[in-house]
Amino acid sequence: MVSRLLMHVGPSLSNFNVLSSANATNIGFASPEFNEAMKSSLEGVRYVMGADESYTPFILPCSGTGAMESTVSFLKKGSRVLIVSNGVFGDRWEKILSRYPVEFRILKANPGSAVSVDQVVAELRTTHYDAVTLTHVETSTGVRIPLKSMVAAVRPFVNLVIVDGVASVGGEKLNMSEWKIDVCLTASQKALGAQAGAGIVVASEHAVSMLKEESISGYLLDLRNWLPIMGEFLKGRGGYFATPPVGTVFSVRSSIDLIRTETIERRVERHKICAEAFRNGIKAMGLEMVAGEGVRSNTVSGVYLKEIDTGRFLQECMANGVEFAAGVHPLIKDRYFRVGHMGWVEPSHIIKAIDTIAKSAISLGAHLNRADGEKAVLETFEGKVPCF
Ligand SMILES: Cc1ncc(COP(=O)(O)O)c(C=O)c1O
Repeated sequence: MVSRLLMHVGPSLSNFNVLSSANATNIGFASPEFNEAMKSSLEGVRYVMGADESYTPFILPCSGTGAMESTVSFLKKGSRVLIVSNGVFGDRWEKILSRYPVEFRILKANPGSAVSVDQVVAELRTTHYDAVTLTHVETSTGVRIPLKSMVAAVRPFVNLVIVDGVASVGGEKLNMSEWKIDVCLTASQKALGAQAGAGIVVASEHAVSMLKEESISGYLLDLRNWLPIMGEFLKGRGGYFATPPVGTVFSVRSSIDLIRTETIERRVERHKICAEAFRNGIKAMGLEMVAGEGVRSNTVSGVYLKEIDTGRFLQECMANGVEFAAGVHPLIKDRYFRVGHMGWVEPSHIIKAIDTIAKSAISLGAHLNRADGEKAVLETFEGKVPCF
């Protein structure tokens, strides 16, 4: 087993018990044990997303991209979709939708900023759209949108609001029922901190009523195929359309159990404090965040490097015991790196991350203030105990 700290943007920091619970042996997908794990996981993802019992959860054998793609099941030929994109993962909607007979327009932001509520509303006032897609946390830059106010502003104009919560669910405040979100999707390996392998979608009654004969979709990810199966699992029984991600479901169940014990409110607060400490450390050592003030997430940070090569820096960090992620936004890719502080993040991880960033960059010739960075982190945590 590698003892390096994994502060990539997903899979991120691991929890041994959660990951190893995926190795349940001699348990088939038709067993009572699996039915129970699926039921708990389905109910659990509703809890984590603040969705009441009128919402239908789906756990699918795919990744976050698959969960995104499955939501075309809510559209029909000729549906008009407005994509609100703050980076690479917002742009992914364009790539997905271009494979289907729908029309779309994309609004884009500069790296580090977010398309504003006013920009989105201005577009919706001039042109009719059936659906809008929003990315809660844009993983290519760490930008978080003000989801509650964005949804409230777009709601009167469209029939369907779809939220990509891949990098937010489990680490950011989210309340599907109260905020009137129709569809929210995520993946098992991000802030839920479970094994990779499950795409997760939670849909309102209204959204489910749009799964009709004229829905468009492929075959595996056609939610019409999964709807009756999920209904059976929610009743504690089983069902088959295609093989479910058996091990991952056990891991999700184990993660949900821990989240329920900690409570989602305290979990979000822990993410918030850890993110704040990280940012304070970055600023104090003399580096800059990619995401602008006011749009920085609890779960992912992009950090601009100066004076040194990012590839060499990431290798040096790896050699010093921490794996971070490379930049991916095409406009700034070579100038920054990304850090995942999600799932099972706690103060010791942030302290180690800041120390490793400073030590590695300095050893390659950057002029940074390591002591100030470390001090700022410790001061942020002073008097707070954000552990799960
Ligand atoms: C916001 C966001 N959406 C979608 C995806 C795609 O998820 P996956 O890589 O699990 O397919 C990611 C992955 O990083 C993401 O961060």
